[in-house]
Amino acid sequence: DWTMSAFREEAIARIRAQVGQGRVLCALSGGVDSAVAAVLIHQAIGDQLTCVLVDHGLMRMGEADWVVNLFREHYNIPLVHVQAEELFLGKLAGVSDPEQKRKIIGGLFIDVFDAEAKKIAASHGGAPEFLAQGTLYPDVIESVSFTGGPSVTIKSHHNVGGLPARMNLKLVEPLRELFKDEVRALGRELGLPDAFIGRHPFPGPGLAIRCPGEVTREKCDILRQADAIYIDEIRKAGLYDDIWQAFVVLLPVRSVGVMGDGRTYDYVCALRAVTSVDGMTADFYPFDMKFLGQVSTRIVNEVKGINRVTYDITAKPPGTIEWE
Ligand code: XMP
Repeated sequence: DWTMSAFREEAIARIRAQVGQGRVLCALSGGVDSAVAAVLIHQAIGDQLTCVLVDHGLMRMGEADWVVNLFREHYNIPLVHVQAEELFLGKLAGVSDPEQKRKIIGGLFIDVFDAEAKKIAASHGGAPEFLAQGTLYPDVIESVSFTGGPSVTIKSHHNVGGLPARMNLKLVEPLRELFKDEVRALGRELGLPDAFIGRHPFPGPGLAIRCPGEVTREKCDILRQADAIYIDEIRKAGLYDDIWQAFVVLLPVRSVGVMGDGRTYDYVCALRAVTSVDGMTADFYPFDMKFLGQVSTRIVNEVKGINRVTYDITAKPPGTIEWE
């Protein structure tokens, strides 16, 4: 892609000019944007970049390992994998308000990242000066429009907004002028695998906002299994790229069921799949019933803890894409 290879050269020159001999930290989320930003910056300044993956235990099945392998093995980019599941789940215990959950996760994220930054700085004999972020053009606009009018915050969105100020870091945001499809093209240009590039967006607070109500390790594990089955079926049916986001929500509701000769009393889950251009409005995806039946059968048979599956047919607006 000529446009993207030109963009890449320009971006590399700009990053070098901005950063000089400075050290850059990049928080990898597991998502496409931060990964593309990191690989691009690494091409510009090599080992002046250190990536940090704060693993809050709220990622999807295999997600952290995928990112760690990709960065360490494939790209040979220095990556610190911070395992902080216990810390996050501990602080989330007993909390069921969606905004409260976001606040806790956002705050802990900053604490953990900050502590890691200090360690990295100490080991390099000097504080890092720059923080890399995979901010896209829509994020730049959305931080204004996401609030949906005067003083009505629908969902507080950006989880690392407090980082640069607190750590006294300058921002490196090489994707600021790009839209999502351009970031994907750039990712391909940089050699990121197609399956990684094409992934659906995933919210910073992760599975915490896909377990309405209280979040526990048990619920996250159940949700991860159901979600993996759903996504697997969507990929096998060749529908993944037609969908903006697809995921399972584990409802805080138990229902009675029957399995073999026995009665079950387990969780209900909802499948969500939407089409969208920018995430601001969305329609539910019109799967055929046979497909939905297959997914339901697999989830109920294979996931211990779920005995009923529903499909969410709400558009945005009036619904939101996520349930919290
Ligand atoms: P909603 O649910 O508001 O979501 O229709 C619109 C898009 O934003 C994502 N989303 C988030 N992303 N932190 C994030 O980084 C959040 O707190 C958050 N809440 C929603 C959602 O997945 C969808 O792509």
